[in-house]
Amino acid sequence: MKETIVINLSRITVRRGGRVVLKDLDWTTRRGEHWFIMGQNGSGKTTLTELLLGYLWASEGQVEVLGRQFGRASLPELRRFTGYVAPWIFRRMPPETPVEDAVASGWDASVGRYGCISPALRRSVTRWLNFFGCRGLKKRLFGELSSGQQLKVVLARALVHNPALVILDEPFSLLDLGARVRMYRYLEKLALRKDAPQFVMVTHHREDVLPFFNQGLLLKGGKVEFAGERTAALAPARIAAVIGIDKVTAERYFV
Ligand SMILES: Nc1ncnc2c1ncn2[C@@H]1O[C@H](COP(=O)(O)OP(=O)(O)OP(=O)(O)O)[C@@H](O)[C@H]1O
Ligand SMILES: [Mg+2]
Repeated sequence: MKETIVINLSRITVRRGGRVVLKDLDWTTRRGEHWFIMGQNGSGKTTLTELLLGYLWASEGQVEVLGRQFGRASLPELRRFTGYVAPWIFRRMPPETPVEDAVASGWDASVGRYGCISPALRRSVTRWLNFFGCRGLKKRLFGELSSGQQLKVVLARALVHNPALVILDEPFSLLDLGARVRMYRYLEKLALRKDAPQFVMVTHHREDVLPFFNQGLLLKGGKVEFAGERTAALAPARIAAVIGIDKVTAERYFV
């Protein structure tokens, strides 16, 4: 079977505020892979994800997602294939947004109230709220929900249009440990489905790297320090070098 390339970044350089924040970066992902991304604060992880969603443009190099080249394809077309969870989506969601609208807004990558929800979209909203055990939240307002419930809604929003690629930028950062573990189960269930999208997740936490993440990308100072198979990416000496500490021990959960 032909390997399908999902993300293809070639020779990417990004400048922000006059500084180079991603430098000469190459990265390719293929269908069947799920990637975690780790690196110190400021190493360029969020910049990389924003590039993949077209929220930011590369100063040099080429971005391709599912064979569509950025700069050629339209942004609405590109975003039809991607789902996104990032801290700014929670901040930008008006608290008075009904949950049903919050989820529906993923259809066109908007955030907040959604104009006219078609019957097909309504079914998809219900399906994803059911998946996360949140059927009862449909008529509630986003701002009334706990952080765990808000994450489920934002995840449902990221999945409502059945994207082929889902990018999660530190999705669990606000959750207590119990809520985090419960979210792991949902994510694993999702990743094990036959029609699962490719997951790319940025995290600072070793335990977020669930077994289905079979590939890892380690960034340091805007450059790729390592890209490849999970076990090699998680080698303690390698992780320690990337995050800038002396060593990572088995007892240490948070790296
Ligand atoms: N809007 C911006 N304008 C100018 N520089 C920016 C902007 N956003 C980020 N940067 C800079 O780009 C670099 C990479 O930032 P980025 O947010 O991608 O890092 P990160 O790896 O996601 O960090 P963190 O772990 O803190 O989320 C940093 O030096 C940061 O200061
Ligand atoms: Mg970030």
